[in-house]
Amino acid sequence: MATWSAPGKVFLFGEHAVVYGKPGIAMAIRPRVFVTVRKSRSAHHAKSPYIDNCFQEMGVRGSVYVNSQLPSSSGLGSSAAVTVATLSAINDEFGKKYRQEEIADMAFAIEKKVQKGRASPTDTTVSTFGGLVLITGTARRRLAPQNFHLVVGNSMVQHNTARMVELVAMMRKTNPQVCNPVLDAIGAISLSALHHMTDPQKLGELMNMNHALLEVLGVGHTQLSRLVLASRMAGAYGAKLTGAGGGGCMIAICPKHLKSKVAGAIESCDARAFSTTIDTEGARKEKDA
Ligand code: MEV
Repeated sequence: MATWSAPGKVFLFGEHAVVYGKPGIAMAIRPRVFVTVRKSRSAHHAKSPYIDNCFQEMGVRGSVYVNSQLPSSSGLGSSAAVTVATLSAINDEFGKKYRQEEIADMAFAIEKKVQKGRASPTDTTVSTFGGLVLITGTARRRLAPQNFHLVVGNSMVQHNTARMVELVAMMRKTNPQVCNPVLDAIGAISLSALHHMTDPQKLGELMNMNHALLEVLGVGHTQLSRLVLASRMAGAYGAKLTGAGGGGCMIAICPKHLKSKVAGAIESCDARAFSTTIDTEGARKEKDA
């Protein structure tokens, strides 16, 4: 039996634009997903295309138990975390000798297959290695960790990443003269953020711009906008949706002393909120229960 865990993630900047090769910045956060794999002749696990593909890719059979503290379908990278933790646990339980880079690549290939070809390697990279990561196309660069004070707001509106990615693709096809400069501008925001990683006020300003541009791309949602505005009014430096949008989560970057006020403002809009910081560890082995 082998138990591995992997963290969730938030996009600080650049979701959707990364699908078109523009730079994006994402960060691993707590909570984590825990996966236990045990050798067995027959497969015992909840039907999940991500888990099924992990076993298929590794060419083995076994049983799986998933304990996720991350809400699913909410933009916090739970499918990538499940995939990375499952591949790592299979690797360990079956004595395969894949390196972390290979696990990350395999997890990305699985996400891409399940999401029908459209995915960036962001979620799987961040979940495998942890920390703060700059993604440009298929290139990944780990950035120096920063201790941001973030509040995550979950709109509780379920969304489907593949559908939101498809929606942007359609918008881009029908309005290329508007959408292409918007995707470029989002990439420019990520690059600008790189120069201000120790200045939360400036990052907040850039998050506000990024949110507005995501709305232009059609991936906003009235409930997400409510949470973003409520956070700003409660004193956050800035706020934006995070992940695919159309529901799911938003993030607010705050002064430390205002974290609980911002979380309260989000919760008063019929949403759930939690504070989080960076998780510098990626996939890791846990003690067997
Ligand atoms: C989803 O968390 C982020 C998107 O950019 C898709 C991707 O990067 O695979 C919308």
